[in-house]
Parts: sequence; structure tokens; C-alpha cells
Amino acid sequence: MTADTLQPLQADDLATVRAWRNHPDVQRHMFSTHTIGEAEHQQWFARQQADPTRRLWLFRRGGQPLGFVHFSGVAPGGVAEWGFYAAPGAPKGTGRALGQAALARAFGAEQLHKVCGQVLAGNTASLAFHRRLGFAEEGVLRQQHRSADGAHYHDVHCFGLLRADWPGPALETTP
Ligand SMILES: CC(C)(COP(=O)(O)OP(=O)(O)OC[C@H]1O[C@@H](n2cnc3c(N)ncnc32)[C@H](O)[C@@H]1OP(=O)(O)O)[C@@H](O)C(=O)NCCC(=O)NCCS
Repeated sequence: MTADTLQPLQADDLATVRAWRNHPDVQRHMFSTHTIGEAEHQQWFARQQADPTRRLWLFRRGGQPLGFVHFSGVAPGGVAEWGFYAAPGAPKGTGRALGQAALARAFGAEQLHKVCGQVLAGNTASLAFHRRLGFAEEGVLRQQHRSADGAHYHDVHCFGLLRADWPGPALETTP
């Protein structure tokens, strides 16, 4: 079996993750689409590290870094929000493996009650990803997100997965 791991993001990983985040294939699906500079990225990392309800994980497959996933609102029995991206150019199936590993950790060690995700309309990969992982589509916030140029409004799809509805870990993961 391919070894899939999730490890807390380290300072040494920041350059890799910032390059992924600024790649057009990731950036265009985010709620903020400006290019993130090194100082801004380091400040963001410091803020996340100081918040005990946040988790930042690097996903590796066979030792190779292939994705990033983060949670906010983490507490036993809590309702958390997640966000993620696969490394641009990562093999097909990477997102699904990352999602399964992250949910195994979220509902396992972190004891969450519910994981929520928000997806901009038009992000067909992420819409399919959430549905495939068993999330329920709980609503659409109409024209909730204004584009950076102020010219367009995009619907936001709200997804939720309850611990009770989660089918369980499909992949072996190590801390
Ligand atoms: C969303 C993301 C993590 C999915 O990862 P991935 O490696 O492309 O996804 P997988 O290959 O594991 O496929 C997962 C599901 O999405 C579907 N999918 C993947 N890319 C797709 C695309 N471009 N269009 C439609 N469906 C797509 C797959 O068919 C699969 O569904 P299925 O099992 O029903 O066939 C990845 O595309 C990504 O990082 N996108 C940019 C960042 C982003 O959008 N993050 C989420 C913000 S809400």
C-alpha cells in the first residue's frame, strides 16, 4: 500500500505551500486571489500556530509532498471548517486520498462532530470531491462572493459531513 501521511506544516514547508497557493490552478478557486508574498505568508503561519483551534497539515504520498489541508474551529465534539489544495500537477486521485486522510484524522484523533466546506460555484473539481467524500450539500449562498475586480458575484456552495455519516477510514494513515 502507498504510505499516505499527514504531518503538521513546518516552517521548512512554507515555500512549497506558498508556491502551490499562488499557482493559477489553485489561486483562481480561492476566496482571496491576490498573490501572497513571503512576509504575508509567514505572518499567516505565525497566526495559525498561535491558535489552538487551527490545524495545518502537509499531505505526503510515498514521502512526496502532494497537498495541504487546514482546519479551523477544532475541538472535541466541535464543528470545524476545512480548506485544502493538491499540489498543481499532482496525479489524479491525490485530492481524494488527501481528503480521506484528513477526515480520518478529523473524526479520529481530533474527535470532531462535523466538518464543513465552502466551494465557489464553478469549481467543478471541488464540488465533485465533496460529493464523492460523502458530504451533504446543505445550501447555496447566492452571489455571496464578490470577485477581486468587483465586477462579478459568485454563488457559494455549503457542504457538511457529520461524524455519524462518515463511512470511516478507507486508507491507512500515520501521524
Ligand atoms: C479540489 C482538488 C483538491 C481535488 O483534487 P484532485 O486530485 O483533482 O481530485 P481527485 O483526482 O482525487 O478526484 C476527486 C473527484 O473530483 C473529480 N474531479 C477532479 N478534477 C475534476 C475536474 N477538473 N472537473 C470535474 N471533476 C473533477 C474526480 O472525477 C473525482 O470524482 P469521482 O471520484 O466522482 O470521479 C484539486 O482539484 C485542487 O487542489 N483544486 C484547486 C484548489 C481547490 O479548489 N481547493 C478547494 C477549494 S474549496
